[in-house]
Amino acid sequence: MMLFTPGPVAVHPAISQAQTLEMITHRGKPYQALYAPILADLKSMLNAAEVHLMTGSGTLGVEANVQNALPPGGKALVLSNGAFGDKLKEHCALYYETRFERLKDAKGWNLERAKPHIDKAASEGCRLLAMVHHETSPGILNHVREICQYAKSKGMLTLLDGTSAWPANPINHQEDSVDFYSWASQKSIGCPPGLCGVSHSPDAVKAIEASPVRSNFMNLKAYRKMAAKSENPTTPAISIIYSLRVALDDLKKEGIPAFSARNQEMAARVRERLQKMGFKLVTEPGFESSTVTAFFCSKNKEVNSKLQSDYSVKLGGGHADWAETTLRFCNMGDVDMEKVEKGLDALEKVKQELGV
Ligand SMILES: Cc1ncc(COP(=O)(O)O)c(C=O)c1O
Repeated sequence: MMLFTPGPVAVHPAISQAQTLEMITHRGKPYQALYAPILADLKSMLNAAEVHLMTGSGTLGVEANVQNALPPGGKALVLSNGAFGDKLKEHCALYYETRFERLKDAKGWNLERAKPHIDKAASEGCRLLAMVHHETSPGILNHVREICQYAKSKGMLTLLDGTSAWPANPINHQEDSVDFYSWASQKSIGCPPGLCGVSHSPDAVKAIEASPVRSNFMNLKAYRKMAAKSENPTTPAISIIYSLRVALDDLKKEGIPAFSARNQEMAARVRERLQKMGFKLVTEPGFESSTVTAFFCSKNKEVNSKLQSDYSVKLGGGHADWAETTLRFCNMGDVDMEKVEKGLDALEKVKQELGV
């Protein structure tokens, strides 16, 4: 099956096979020799003060960051434009007094739209701005840099859910004014599911140390303590860490700018061909994703099941506000332009066969 899904994604055979390497224990030199260089690579790729790998899905990284960001009684502002921004609000509301602003119709967040909300929230004592970097439900790339820089200038900490963004959408903690960030293994980096990465700026590290321990599993102070000896507080998913090592080596060889450009090219081709086929794109121009392209499609479920049964091609289904009316053509993981063209050819045929 050719997967054009927003995660889990097609995994390159070399990345997949790395999972079968001989098992080691998670205490002691062999593990430290595996984990320490991974932390060093991620730290440099994200220009972060500290990074940690956590065993769990993307949600774990997002909630761990939220939970460790503010002291009791803290106030947060969440800017959303889809299902995962809405989820981020739920995480924040568990711990903090939370203000929530939501854009509809796949509109993107830029500074002009965010500024009045940040100004109001800052004047009311909100100390955390939280938003999704790449909103996966319709594929919206929010203009996070200008927003985070502004929020920081207002004295707020910034937290991005980058689960489906990094590394197709690079982040530089310092230059982008991002304090808390997270991403997941089964998305753009192209590994199997089960790991997430969190990364922090110096301000985030201070905030983590100042916040209370609210859970044992998501205790980032414990992660900090164990990272000093290149280990984790609990048993990590070592097999997936093996696969991540291979994915990071590939990424280092290619370079993040080239990786990102390659994804942008594939997504641009997807948009071009979808529009030529007569499909209308969902996302507002100027906020296009480089990995997830949602398009309006009548009989969306029928189209996707015919693609699977007749052509062994699987697209992402519609999600959230767009569940019944769209499909998502995604170029994440082990895909290249040739595979993208094949997937689009299959879609073109099914479109004609079903008369949509
Ligand atoms: C932006 C974003 N945040 C959070 C999640 C939740 O990730 P997971 O299912 O790995 O917990 C997803 C999953 O698609 C996502 O795209």
